[in-house]
Amino acid sequence: SNNITPLSTLQPAPTTRENEYEEIDWDNLGFKVTQTDYMFIAKSTLDGNFEQGQLKPFGNIQLNPSAGILNYGQGLIEGTKAYKREDGRIFLFRPHDSSIRMQIGAERMCMLCPSVDQFVDAIKQTVLANKRWIPPAGKGTLYIRPLLMGSGAVLGVAPAPEYTFLVYACPVGNYFKDATGALSLYIEEEVHRAACGGAGGVKSITNYAPVMKAMKNAKGKGFTDVLYLDSVNNKYIEEASCSNIFLIKGKVISTPKANGTILEGVTKKSVIDIAHDLGYQVEERSIEVEELIRADEVFCTGTAVGVALVGSVTYKARRIEYKISEGIITQQLNSRLVEIQRGIVEDKRNWIVEV
Ligand code: COI
Repeated sequence: SNNITPLSTLQPAPTTRENEYEEIDWDNLGFKVTQTDYMFIAKSTLDGNFEQGQLKPFGNIQLNPSAGILNYGQGLIEGTKAYKREDGRIFLFRPHDSSIRMQIGAERMCMLCPSVDQFVDAIKQTVLANKRWIPPAGKGTLYIRPLLMGSGAVLGVAPAPEYTFLVYACPVGNYFKDATGALSLYIEEEVHRAACGGAGGVKSITNYAPVMKAMKNAKGKGFTDVLYLDSVNNKYIEEASCSNIFLIKGKVISTPKANGTILEGVTKKSVIDIAHDLGYQVEERSIEVEELIRADEVFCTGTAVGVALVGSVTYKARRIEYKISEGIITQQLNSRLVEIQRGIVEDKRNWIVEV
């Protein structure tokens, strides 16, 4: 389309943008939309592949009112991060895993999907074009949001005839406002995030709006987030609104086994590997709420959330406080993850990718 301009022919950036960094408050980033300079966009082609795609100025997009994403929620999101080291080098964390997860999601949602190489390349292009928005080392990360959507028009319930892959990025700090303290989770008994056979295991956009009511309710009561239970028995823990959950008892680390209702988090997978490296036993299995209540430490993981210690859970009007000062193993796991990302500890599994 004619409004897509290659980066090389875009207008020179205004003077303020020639600075190495944007003039924003890097110490109070939070997790919010910041309009950065460029986004990447590519459409599917008639042969079922994707066009090469291009960067264009960050801005609104046009969609047919009958677009599959608008009418039937045919859309997937991803989340991945770029960060700067002290020496200025820029790295991504496991972008290939994010790409593969999008492919699995696309198969579930009957969507065409860009190849792993196209996906990773688009992320790199988006990061480089928005380089000045990557927070200084230690201040935060550039959160990258790949979107895949049914952009073609459909009226009856059916896969859209055309797909659009878009990548934008925003500088972010802590996901939860009160990131200094530990999270307080409300264990939800009425609303379920996912059902067996549904799309809870993939990053479908349809997984998020249905839990906003439970989140709003919990936030109104002062909780940080909601922890959902399985929809069959209403007693096995699944995950929080946008993060996976772990518990530690003694030297054993446990997390719910993903069976199609729980998202396969990249940070979750990483933490499991790190826990093994550090000599812990890790169990992926069904976990009853009662077991969570008796844990020594509880934490959540996610790309956006990071590794976040849980300070309390509230179940059936009973609030259980964990001894925050004892979040020792959680801190150890988080430190190792950050050390791998910063290049302090060897990255023996090729998780980090230099841009
Ligand atoms: C993540 O990137 O960690 C997510 O789960 C996305 C979330 C903010 C919806």
